[in-house]
Amino acid sequence: MTRLAFITGASSGIGQALAARFYQAGYNLALVARRTPEIESWAGSAKIDAQRYRIYGADVACIDSIVAAGAACIAHQGVPDVVIANAGISVGIDTEDRGDLDVLAQTFAINNVGLAATFHPFIAAMRARGSGRLVGIGSVASIRGLPGHGAYCASKAGVVAYCESLRGELRAGGVKVVTLCPGYVDTPLTQGNRYGMPFLMRADDFADRAFRAIEAGASYRVIPWQMGVVAKLMRLLPNALFDRAVQGRGRKKRRGE
Ligand SMILES: NC(=O)c1ccc[n+]([C@@H]2O[C@H](COP(=O)([O-])OP(=O)(O)OC[C@H]3O[C@@H](n4cnc5c(N)ncnc54)[C@H](OP(=O)(O)O)[C@@H]3O)[C@@H](O)[C@H]2O)c1
Repeated sequence: MTRLAFITGASSGIGQALAARFYQAGYNLALVARRTPEIESWAGSAKIDAQRYRIYGADVACIDSIVAAGAACIAHQGVPDVVIANAGISVGIDTEDRGDLDVLAQTFAINNVGLAATFHPFIAAMRARGSGRLVGIGSVASIRGLPGHGAYCASKAGVVAYCESLRGELRAGGVKVVTLCPGYVDTPLTQGNRYGMPFLMRADDFADRAFRAIEAGASYRVIPWQMGVVAKLMRLLPNALFDRAVQGRGRKKRRGE
């Protein structure tokens, strides 16, 4: 029986690369984003067999929209083996600025509530079947709060904690929760960053390592491993040293910058 992967954020970057990697491994695809023409043209240029994928237009910031996409996937393609909640945004904020509170709210709506709502439609069916993988895309930005990047860092710390809670809840039912924390991956989300990006990876390279971590049923993985080491050291760093280390670091661009 052909396996099925449901992937949000499939119109760009990491989501697209994950779709290519799962397809190559023989999976059928359920691909989700708001910009569905982008997915269609990618599928055409990647020569994806039309019988092996379906596109679902959804906004993960709207709970009903992404829940409906999940239900439509079950109706048309069945219950996926792997669900990857990958859709996300990364925008700098300044809490002094009233407008940036809306950016903060939108970030949590997409990166956190959207992630849980992506998983929601599949949980009962996966538990009934006794198998399934729910994959949350976190970030190394979850490890410590970076100046100017509070919305994103907080949201990704939330992803890690939320997925850990869910992992404990679903373990006995045979459903695995996999948390992946990418380091820096070359996608539209990072292009234009004003700071150094150590161990920057190509999206297809990230997707290959992510695929293997998901297949292995890893509970938590930082990719690449070198960033995992950096992350562990960062976590150990006393606040006074951490604060000094990030002082003067370039900030993530805010909306309109
Ligand atoms: N690139 C990195 O270095 C890096 C590092 C750590 C973590 N990550 C995480 O990896 C994930 C993918 O990032 P990326 O680098 O591939 O970024 P990207 O190229 O900007 O792609 C983001 C994807 O998310 C989708 N998305 C955004 N808002 C959405 C919404 N409201 N509803 C539905 N889909 C939405 C976009 O699709 P539409 O606009 O078409 O809807 C797009 O497909 C994100 O969660 C990001 O935080 C990336």
